[in-house]
Amino acid sequence: MNKQAAEKHAQSLREQLQHHNYLYYILDAPSIPDVEYDRLLRELETLEAQYPHLKTPDSPTQRVGNAPLSEFTQVKHKVPMLSLGNSFAFEELAAFNKRCQDRLKNPAEIEFVCEPKLDGLAVSLLYEKGILVQAATRGDGSVGENITENIRTIGSIPLKLQGNYPAAVEVRGEVYMPLKGFKQLNEIAKKNGDKAFANPRNAAAGSLRQLDSRITATRPLAMYCYGIGAIDGGSIGDSQWEMLQTFKQWGLRVNPEIQKVTGIDACWHYFEKLAQQRNTLDYDIDGIVFKVNHFALQQQLGFVSRAPRWAIAQKFPAQEELSKILNVDFQVGRTGALTPVARLEPTFVGGATVSNATLHNMDEIARKDVRIGDTVIIRRAGDVIPEVVSVVKDRRPQNAKKIMLPVTCPICDSAVVHLEGEAVARCIGELFCPAQRKGILSHYASRKAMDIDGLGERLVELMVDNNLLTTAADIYQLTVDKVAGLERMGEKSAQNLIKAIEASKQTSLAKFIYALGIREVGESTANNLANHFGALNCIAQADIDALQQTPDVGHVVANNVYGFFREPHNVEVINALQHAGVHWPDIDIAHPDEKPLQGQTFVLTGTLESLARDQAKARLVSLGAKVSGSVSLKTNYVVAGAAAGSKLAKAEQLGVTVKDEQWLIALLKQYD
Ligand code: IVH
Repeated sequence: MNKQAAEKHAQSLREQLQHHNYLYYILDAPSIPDVEYDRLLRELETLEAQYPHLKTPDSPTQRVGNAPLSEFTQVKHKVPMLSLGNSFAFEELAAFNKRCQDRLKNPAEIEFVCEPKLDGLAVSLLYEKGILVQAATRGDGSVGENITENIRTIGSIPLKLQGNYPAAVEVRGEVYMPLKGFKQLNEIAKKNGDKAFANPRNAAAGSLRQLDSRITATRPLAMYCYGIGAIDGGSIGDSQWEMLQTFKQWGLRVNPEIQKVTGIDACWHYFEKLAQQRNTLDYDIDGIVFKVNHFALQQQLGFVSRAPRWAIAQKFPAQEELSKILNVDFQVGRTGALTPVARLEPTFVGGATVSNATLHNMDEIARKDVRIGDTVIIRRAGDVIPEVVSVVKDRRPQNAKKIMLPVTCPICDSAVVHLEGEAVARCIGELFCPAQRKGILSHYASRKAMDIDGLGERLVELMVDNNLLTTAADIYQLTVDKVAGLERMGEKSAQNLIKAIEASKQTSLAKFIYALGIREVGESTANNLANHFGALNCIAQADIDALQQTPDVGHVVANNVYGFFREPHNVEVINALQHAGVHWPDIDIAHPDEKPLQGQTFVLTGTLESLARDQAKARLVSLGAKVSGSVSLKTNYVVAGAAAGSKLAKAEQLGVTVKDEQWLIALLKQYD
């Protein structure tokens, strides 16, 4: 390509990329996939590397950041950046409206633009001839810091305006960090052992304050524009609303929630609506800004001590506040997980008084270094459970106490285990602990476990609440009389339930193990344990090494099983169950030479006619085969019954051998 052709091509690539940026960030409607965008960008990069003079300041390649600055230079805003008056109650908002009407000497309802007040940083962008030439922080309102290099790395800020833009213009808006990006950023920080940011605002501020713009380039920042400073030429219409529409035409991002309303009651209505939606937005807002719409009226109203008389910020109740940790208790959830809960000095935050906040788990306590007696920042956002965000270290009293994980369950006194690598600590009194009762009993009765027809989650809950059930063994003490006395339970259904309970007593070892609800022992692990050991007492007595000999049982599961049978409370319940008549045949364990299908992987799909899939699976496993739920290159056979779908297709695609039910029956018969 000669120089001239390169220039033309670079120009075309820049225009294409700018257009796709606009579709992506402003219209939210990308027309090409990301990879295609990246391809165009790389093509332009290559071209610019070859012909460095093509590297214009508005080139989309210029967003990756540059060598670090030694300091930020100062920028004088052509028109000062003002602040806003605040209002905390409807009465204050109504007074603002009245002041406007009085000053305008017109009692007519005023038209306002309602805009979410983003909790980020105010920034001023200077475009000359449509090109972004400078970006500055608000600073003291007159002089800010030159953060042009950092701002250029933000994808949603156009490096070049489009359409009918003025010769020069200062555009104002808020740079913020979307919540999704904030969470990801903090997760990465956590993984790397770095300090997490306390909130999205701090994260955005920290990112913009980087002297090395290459770091800023890795941060998920965005901007919404809402105002104007100096302007030379061009037209922005007669009102705030028209100006915001014009911004969009120039390719600037404007908050999609903005609305034009008439009268202060409509403003309040908007405020309440957004207060409701606040927690569904992907950014933090701390209030609503109401602006008199027409510029002519704004001009008449003027300013008072660095704030416009034509606008006001109506604030939401703060979501973060200071409080003090009085004590820490541990709550036990339905799965036995212990959650540390901070008891707080009652504090008004997020519109309610909060006296408890979650500390999540011991790792979080260690990471935040929380102690009893600490002054902490707590956060309550909408319906979200209040949490301790961080500790104010310089207010830590000398007698602050470390938080210790209890050795035994605060509810049932069974042992508490905290496995390495796992975030949560758990009570291992699964079968006994009242906190875990409802969950474990529903699981025990469920179809793939003891299969007690009619004993669903709701009925279990009702029975536990009515003191009919404490442990699973109590199920077998139920009588028609006791059951029929429950709410919405007829005589007939009570009889059916008792029949179902009786019938469930005869079961298989695998189902019984699964029914015990040992952590991470699902159906297939229970099957493997049953087939490997053959009898319950062998499993109960096995040490961790022996348990790990079971197919697919690793260190974690072996530990869970071992711990479960070492907890006397659990053993008591198992004895009571067997005493009540729960029984199963022991399994003759096949010796290695009796495992002819060892090393073979099967996938069963579709409906099998004469063989239940569970049975077929159990037989195959007992012969040493592995039965998997998904087809891969490791699959030896896919057995396809009627109406087999995607798994069959996958097998055909991968060239895996496909067999039918008759073949499987014949195979199993061989080993009978
Ligand atoms: S207008 C002359 N509009 O709030 C009017 N400000 O308390 C000046 N802010 O420094 C600001 N969203 O950082 C305006 N839609 C919005 C806003 C907004 C957030 C921030 C901005 C400003 C502060 C004023």
